[in-house]
Amino acid sequence: MSKKILVLYYSQTGQLTEIVENFVLGLKSPFVSSRLSEREGDLGVVEVVRAKPKNDFAFPWTSERFFDAMPETVLAIPAPIEKIELKEAKYDLVVFAYQPWYLSLSIPANSILATDEVKKILKDTPVVTLIGARNMWLSSQEKLKKILKEAGANLVGNIALVDRNQNSISAITILHWMMNGKKDSYLGIFPKPGVSDEDISNTKVFGKTVLEFLQKVNFDGLQQQLVYQNAVDIKPDYMIIEKLAPRLFLIWANFISKRKNRTAWLVVYKYYLLFALFIIAPIVLTVNAILFRPFMRNKIREKKKYYEGVGMME
Ligand SMILES: Cc1cc2nc3c(=O)[nH]c(=O)nc-3n(C[C@H](O)[C@H](O)[C@H](O)COP(=O)(O)O)c2cc1C
Repeated sequence: MSKKILVLYYSQTGQLTEIVENFVLGLKSPFVSSRLSEREGDLGVVEVVRAKPKNDFAFPWTSERFFDAMPETVLAIPAPIEKIELKEAKYDLVVFAYQPWYLSLSIPANSILATDEVKKILKDTPVVTLIGARNMWLSSQEKLKKILKEAGANLVGNIALVDRNQNSISAITILHWMMNGKKDSYLGIFPKPGVSDEDISNTKVFGKTVLEFLQKVNFDGLQQQLVYQNAVDIKPDYMIIEKLAPRLFLIWANFISKRKNRTAWLVVYKYYLLFALFIIAPIVLTVNAILFRPFMRNKIREKKKYYEGVGMME
């Protein structure tokens, strides 16, 4: 039977658009196994919807706007978006592609999920999440799991594409990309920012895997298969940063959102963030590697397994 698939997303730079396009190519791929095919050529309908904020986030960013987005992102305050027009009243699968901002769902991603149309469509529907991030998406995914649960959706798979370069390097290169608008090498010395072209192109493989499970009408084992295909790669170092940083971001967001001289406080936050990224984080990670990590191997393995999965912490 033909399946109806909805792919919902927003992309500011176009990177997530490319990821979605490759994933959809996989979703539309011919059947690998005839066992899965009920009728050759009857692969289903894939509807792709790119959401548009009413006041879109201009790209490239200015430094001021980049940091100004923090409080509303972290406090999960949605922004108005154009009405999401859907062709169907119900889908067999929803693919929700998003990008984290400040360890939370980006404002546009959050705004998509806040609409009545999307809430309605998510109810009792299997969902696969597709993330295009720098390298820190664990906290945003935990927030998303809660939103999906509240909407009555059933998270069955997650794919997270990241910049594979070292943390400080990717922080420098992403800032270059965000402020200049070009996804190219900073000074001709640094690696290209963001998700690599190779990883973007490889997203087809994950689309194909999701299609196979969709045709079986059984998503049991989908996430294990995606993990086996390296659709998520959890780094223990980032688990530590993501455990500590969201609480600090929340304090900053609450504090700044209540200030009359917001612009001045955002400058203070900017220097705090740069200090945290380039000075505090490396120190925390070094201390952790020497003093804690060797004695916490089982706990780290357990946590890694949790983040690889689609279940929700009690
Ligand atoms: C304001 C802002 C904050 C971001 N914060 C994070 C973050 O916390 N974690 C992360 O992995 N990537 C972060 N990124 C990178 C984005 O998730 C995304 O990969 C990148 O902006 C590509 O944009 P697009 O998906 O809109 O095309 C941030 C980007 C922006 C613009």
